[in-house]
Amino acid sequence: MSQDKLTKIVSLCKRRGFVFGGSEIYGGLSSVWDYGPLGARLKKRIKDVWWQTYVEDREDIVGLDSSIIMQEGVFRASGHLQGFADWLVDCPKCKKRFRVDKLEKKDIDLYSCLDCKSDIDIEKYKPRKFNLMLKTNMSATEEDPYYAYLRPETAQGIFVNFSNVMNVTHKPLPLGIAQIGKAFRNEVTTGSFIFRMKEFEQMEIEYFVNPKEAEKAYEYWVQERLNFYIEKIGLKKENLRLREHDKDELAHYAKGCTDVEFNFPFGWSELEGIANRGDYDLSEHARVSKKDLSFFDNIKKEKYIPYVIEPSAGVDRTFFAIISDAYHEEEVKGKIRTVLRLKPNFAPYCVAILPLLKNRPEIVELAKKVFYDMKSQWPAVYNDTGAIGKLYRRQDEIGTPFCVTIDVDSLTDHKVTVRNRDSMAQERVDISKLKDYIAEKIKSY
Ligand code: GAP
Repeated sequence: MSQDKLTKIVSLCKRRGFVFGGSEIYGGLSSVWDYGPLGARLKKRIKDVWWQTYVEDREDIVGLDSSIIMQEGVFRASGHLQGFADWLVDCPKCKKRFRVDKLEKKDIDLYSCLDCKSDIDIEKYKPRKFNLMLKTNMSATEEDPYYAYLRPETAQGIFVNFSNVMNVTHKPLPLGIAQIGKAFRNEVTTGSFIFRMKEFEQMEIEYFVNPKEAEKAYEYWVQERLNFYIEKIGLKKENLRLREHDKDELAHYAKGCTDVEFNFPFGWSELEGIANRGDYDLSEHARVSKKDLSFFDNIKKEKYIPYVIEPSAGVDRTFFAIISDAYHEEEVKGKIRTVLRLKPNFAPYCVAILPLLKNRPEIVELAKKVFYDMKSQWPAVYNDTGAIGKLYRRQDEIGTPFCVTIDVDSLTDHKVTVRNRDSMAQERVDISKLKDYIAEKIKSY
């Protein structure tokens, strides 16, 4: 499958309204994507599950919603201004720009272009350092600029609010601060759909602990986050694995890092990173801002700068993983049927109501009644815009687990036909028992 599967997923996402190219009517914007009506639903569901699991259901994590635009001082302290950069080189033949660390190495200074395969001698075509942060001018005039930055990770908003949060919550450590929000990076490697975007969304927890407990907390979070993808998101176990970073791969702030990797259509790649950031961030912010960011443990009478364990997940990559995991093709009567086998809680719609005869007012009236009844419990959609075969195919492609058809017989026997997305089996169900029937079926997913 691989590239073929990627192309099919991109096409399905566009065709059915999950993901569109950014600024498309003006020719698009590289590595910027918009979520359509169905994509917005699925994306919100991912964020809701994460927030419920970590902020609502736990006592040791609180939420935050900090701003995207941040002062230059923040990134001077965090090291992003100096260190958050890629080495880039232009291919002398095809003129495309690549990250040096992504090129295929042929010899000591000789690399092979990823696109046209010609040689790139980096002694001759010197790579240049390129900062990944997006800068914006907050001054009213162009002549007298005041630069600020769009955060490249939501984490910095948490670090700069650490003492604010500690002061208002009066909680002991360990304490996590969780945040969902946009982050921005001027990425150069493009062409991997929503895997690598310039504007994306993160779900991050900064879990502050006593330095003596950091290693244990790190190990806990690695397992916890892997389990989350299996149990709460429902990704297949065989498509997930853990990968610990080598020392030379670590980000400038990290003492240790493990990735949760997913088997994307183009191969195993990072879905989430769990890092032990030590006391790097709080110490640096304390040093540069000259504010005391230490923690005083009232019980042990100990003062220290906490270590931080950071499980950092991407909403967009989770979205991509869910779609990729659910994507399925099968042959039915000589034709290919494409199905998104989404769990009902992630399917944009759980039930589709499809009246068979849209010109019969009694059928329409009954179908609308069933629709509003379903909608009061699950996300539901009403569709009468085509022949039934076409409507089923459309619902299969967007992952709707149950299609309910209302026909002439429904008017007299008060029953409807429920079609199961995965088995395509159809059952006649009493309208008064329809909710119980669907609720029972959902339990088996
Ligand atoms: N605060 C730590 C941090 O930002 P990261 O590994 O650079 O670490 C964390 O990013 C997660 O954010 C990644 O695992 C990925 O899910 C998501 N992410 C990072 N860059 C991304 C991009 N350009 N497009 C989409 N998601 C991205």
